[in-house]
Amino acid sequence: MSAWGMHLGPLARRQVLVSIWVVILSGVLWIVIGWNLDAEDYTDPLRAWRHRVLGLHGISAYVLLWITGRLYSLHQHGNWRAQRNRASGMALSGALLLLAGSGLALYYPPHEDWRDALSIFHQVSGVVLVLLVLLHVWLAKKYRRRHNS
Ligand code: HEM
Ligand code: HEM
Repeated sequence: MSAWGMHLGPLARRQVLVSIWVVILSGVLWIVIGWNLDAEDYTDPLRAWRHRVLGLHGISAYVLLWITGRLYSLHQHGNWRAQRNRASGMALSGALLLLAGSGLALYYPPHEDWRDALSIFHQVSGVVLVLLVLLHVWLAKKYRRRHNS
């Protein structure tokens, strides 16, 4: 199969993982900067940095969703039909869908009062995504080792 097939080639795998980690790290950095920000002080330079980090988060999230779409027909669909790494792949896809939905709702909240709850939901799903990525990659390596030996 091609570099973007059921087995990801080294370059494709790197692109997927780099884009996922940029999205995760920029989200986590936004949270960490928030802990050190003085809510009353509008001259705090950290405020501008937090805004830039959120910009990076939004852009990298678009790239990640494009890459996820690219994985769909061969990697997701192909491995699903071949019954390989199904549970963690499904959970990872579900988490990405929830993040994309809640991220969109943060841009356009159905009601301003819901924004805080949506933000917490999005952040918790982000932490779950970290665990699911680690699990998916670990299971993929285990699977490959078993089939290569
Ligand atoms: C139903 C959905 C999915 C299934 C059934 C699935 C299945 C698999 C399988 C079987 C492997 C091992 C392939 C090999 O032998 O080389 C794998 C690896 C991988 N998958 Fe998925 N996957 C799914 C969704 C996703 C999604 C949504 C992403 C990320 C956006 C993803 C990212 C990766 C990556 C980066 C690897 C390579 C890990 C490594 O070799 O280090 N997968 N997946
Ligand atoms: C597919 C994955 C993801 C997508 C599509 C996505 C999308 C978005 C979008 C569109 C926003 C709104 C940006 C704005 O208000 O200007 C946002 C905010 C945010 N995201 Fe994500 N995101 C994803 C994953 C993550 C992950 C993994 C984390 C890690 C914790 C995370 C943490 C955050 C945080 C902290 C915010 C700011 C929340 C707020 O404004 O109250 N996101 N995300």
